[in-house]
Amino acid sequence: MKVLVVGGGGREHALCWTIAASPLCHKLYCAPGNAGIAEEAECVPIAAEDAEALVAFVQKEAIDYVVVGPEAPLVLGLVDRLGEIGVKAFGPSAAAAQLEGSKGFTKDLCAKYGIPTAAYARFTEAAAAKAYVREEGAPIVVKADGLAAGKGVTVAMTEDEALAAIDEAMAGGAFGEAGAELVIEAFLEGEEASFFALVDGETALPLATAQDHKRAYDGDEGPNTGGMGAYSPAPVMTQDLIDQTMERIILPTVAAMKAEGMPYKGVLYAGLMITDKGPELIEYNVRFGDPECQVVLMRLMSDLLPALIASTDGQLASFDLRWYEEAALTVVMAAKGYPGAYDKGTVIRNLDHAGGNSDDVKIFHAGTKLGAEGEILANGGRVLNVTAMAPSIRQAQERAYAAVDKIDWPEGFCRRDIGWRALERE
Ligand code: AMP
Ligand code: GLY
Repeated sequence: MKVLVVGGGGREHALCWTIAASPLCHKLYCAPGNAGIAEEAECVPIAAEDAEALVAFVQKEAIDYVVVGPEAPLVLGLVDRLGEIGVKAFGPSAAAAQLEGSKGFTKDLCAKYGIPTAAYARFTEAAAAKAYVREEGAPIVVKADGLAAGKGVTVAMTEDEALAAIDEAMAGGAFGEAGAELVIEAFLEGEEASFFALVDGETALPLATAQDHKRAYDGDEGPNTGGMGAYSPAPVMTQDLIDQTMERIILPTVAAMKAEGMPYKGVLYAGLMITDKGPELIEYNVRFGDPECQVVLMRLMSDLLPALIASTDGQLASFDLRWYEEAALTVVMAAKGYPGAYDKGTVIRNLDHAGGNSDDVKIFHAGTKLGAEGEILANGGRVLNVTAMAPSIRQAQERAYAAVDKIDWPEGFCRRDIGWRALERE
């Protein structure tokens, strides 16, 4: 098969690395890819959001299967566009991608089908939103309805913070169109966890558990980011919690989407709060988590590509995935300044030596490009995902940091405590 992966981050590097190893794949492309992905796939300079150009490329190269990494092209309808020209693609339709594209859509679906989530209301007028906040009191959570690159959520500990967040989104236009509508919801208390399942419209197959660290600095302090590291398995997700999540959240959602005439296919990524009443849904994402994907795929023993195709073809019921018992852990190396302003174009040295020859260490590239002399240049906020597998989370952590310490990149930084919650449980 000729396969195209869409995207250019660490998640897509892990997808390309995994798919390239499949005996079913004889030619792999990635658009736009990055300097690391170029070692697994032929990179084509087309942006992930440029559906027009992607469709033309797929036709020209007679691509058999497309795997869409990020949410933006999914929400924009890339899978539908490819379907119109008869090309199969992994990921939800635009209609089904509303599970990530509109928080209000997801909350309404949960309310209609009894899926546990925080009590909420939707607003398009600031005055009504503020009245609701005054009535409910703090703590309370204010969310932009649409995609806001992970920045549209304010967990307000005081009423004033919530009122300011309403003004910022609605009057200030901080999130553009995405913030024209707000969801305001009750504050949930508990430990956060993530849950991933492959879905084929009818059935869902849970993936290995994983957990990320969202804050920029050690001790889970500092600003929110896309994720500074991750590990798998995630001890917080016990078998009992996995079963509860499947029965109360994932399977009812799959059935609801089918009943609504927009069957969900692809990865369903549930952000959960483990409350004293059990797991509640915080939000859905319609794609693999990044960097969670990197640790999950490191542990995958089975061939990924047929599983993705089974999701597209509605054939997951007969499917089973095998995982290595070992733990995997990834450390994100980011450009100094991230998630605020940072420099691009700084030189990263010694990656080959840091990666070594071992199968148990893999450095995924999240934001790199090749320089004129073949050197690796930083080209984003999150730049590298230094990933290791070992018999325990602690050993995986040691192995990953040993590789991190060999990388010569003075303009980068990373957290030194990835996995600490899991280690406390171990
Ligand atoms: P989201 O983008 O919806 O995942 O929200 C970002 C972060 O805000 C989550 O990872 C949680 O830490 C926090 N959050 C969102 N909704 C709630 C809630 N209802 N109660 C408490 N924390 C929340
Ligand atoms: N690591 C969180 C995300 O992919 O949204």
